Amino acid sequence: MELKVSGVTFALCPFLTLVFVPLLILLFLLYVFREVLGSCPPCKSNRRLDGKTVIITGGNAGIGKETAIDLARRGARVILGCRSEDRARAAVRDIIAKTGNSKVVFYILDLADLDSVRQFAATVLEKESRLDILINNAGIGKSAVLISGNTTKQGFDLTFGTNYLGPFLLTYLLLDLLRSSAPSQIVNVSSHMHWFCFRQLNFSSETQNGVQYPYLKGYEISKLGNVMHARELAKRLQSTGIRANSVHPGLVETEIWAPLKKKYPGWLYNILVAIRRMIGLNSTEGAQTTIYVAIDEGAQDYNGQYFAKCTISKENRLALDDSACALLWDHSMKMCSLK
Ligand SMILES: NC(=O)c1ccc[n+]([C@@H]2O[C@H](COP(=O)([O-])OP(=O)(O)OC[C@H]3O[C@@H](n4cnc5c(N)ncnc54)[C@H](OP(=O)(O)O)[C@@H]3O)[C@@H](O)[C@H]2O)c1
Ligand SMILES: *[C@@H]1O[C@H](CO)[C@@H](O)[C@H](O)[C@H]1NC(C)=O
Ligand SMILES: *[C@@H]1O[C@H](CO)[C@@H](O)[C@H](O)[C@H]1NC(C)=O
Ligand SMILES: *[C@@H]1O[C@H](CO)[C@@H](O)[C@H](O)[C@H]1NC(C)=O
Ligand SMILES: *[C@@H]1O[C@H](CO)[C@@H](O)[C@H](O)[C@H]1NC(C)=O
Repeated sequence: MELKVSGVTFALCPFLTLVFVPLLILLFLLYVFREVLGSCPPCKSNRRLDGKTVIITGGNAGIGKETAIDLARRGARVILGCRSEDRARAAVRDIIAKTGNSKVVFYILDLADLDSVRQFAATVLEKESRLDILINNAGIGKSAVLISGNTTKQGFDLTFGTNYLGPFLLTYLLLDLLRSSAPSQIVNVSSHMHWFCFRQLNFSSETQNGVQYPYLKGYEISKLGNVMHARELAKRLQSTGIRANSVHPGLVETEIWAPLKKKYPGWLYNILVAIRRMIGLNSTEGAQTTIYVAIDEGAQDYNGQYFAKCTISKENRLALDDSACALLWDHSMKMCSLK
């Protein structure tokens, strides 16, 4: 920048460097963020799901509820797996009212308690004759531990247990039903946050501070686990007619962010909400990639893949390590006392 000639350029310079250029950079970054984290157009498939059964964990709020509404509109029997009876009842009522589909029910499921997962699966096996689509959507964010304590009922890290291990056991227990309903499929809702794992999972199992598998903790690892799980499932289920894929829904404004209220002062929390509203998606938009992978004709040939914005996306190379995926499976079996 030139610092001379007239008073005008002189006054313009600090303005340019201090306000205008940073503003441009900020707008550019927001644009990049929206592009990277952004949505896809609403799923255009007209596919109907009459006679099909879908399970959506955490279908009472956020992305899961919007997914449930879409699939119920297509005529599916929709089963929500929810930990709160009150919230589940309210959601079922709302989904039926919005879609006119009365085949929407819930069974109680707390993914942070493997006994509850077993109970849920037993109820499904007893009451349902088929299962076409399993959507492992329920999950907690990084800060949920500020509210719900830091371990699951069985002593695993709360985030790992809720986002990965509970869904692992649930999927395992429902495999026979999925198999007998094939072609069927499993969708794991993961996150781009899984990219923030920089070294392979550490399966050291000695208990530390009362936590089992103390290095398998936190949001990033739980979401890496989702991607690896889908890959390993796809491999194990080859030729069964069950497909398994994982998705990143986008940066979505939902209740998953609410625990941050406890972490930050009110003004900062409100700024974060404003930024998310600016660059993020609402929950309808956030449900599109899940819906696309679950039902779109264009996605039915994919298996073991990771999706974002309704298209194949790149996963962390750690998730491409076949032996690590297999190890995760073996350890997960052990953690769930399965063999
Ligand atoms: N929002 C984002 O920006 C974003 C980005 C990437 C990935 N994701 C993933 O998207 C998925 C859905 O998140 P969301 O944004 O829609 O969050 P949300 O609005 O908080 O919904 C999460 C759902 O999971 C349920 N849930 C939480 N813990 C559970 C447990 N122990 N047992 C059973 N259900 C449980 C919640 O039930 P309650 O109503 O009882 O709490 C709720 O129904 C999660 O897997 C999340 O990791 C979200
Ligand atoms: C678990 O949470 C409690 C408080 O709720 C805290 O005192 C403790 O240090 C936490 N443990 C670990 C291993 O983070
Ligand atoms: C993800 O998918 C795999 C197979 O696709 C499954 O075993 C696992 O339980 C699913 N859920 C999560 C949250 O990883
Ligand atoms: C797991 O982490 C612990 C603590 O950092 C370390 O002692 C151990 O060697 C690690 N194990 C592997 C297999 O990396
Ligand atoms: C999200 O925004 C779209 C418009 O882009 C709108 O049609 C939809 O109803 C909104 N969903 C929610 C849950 O607000």
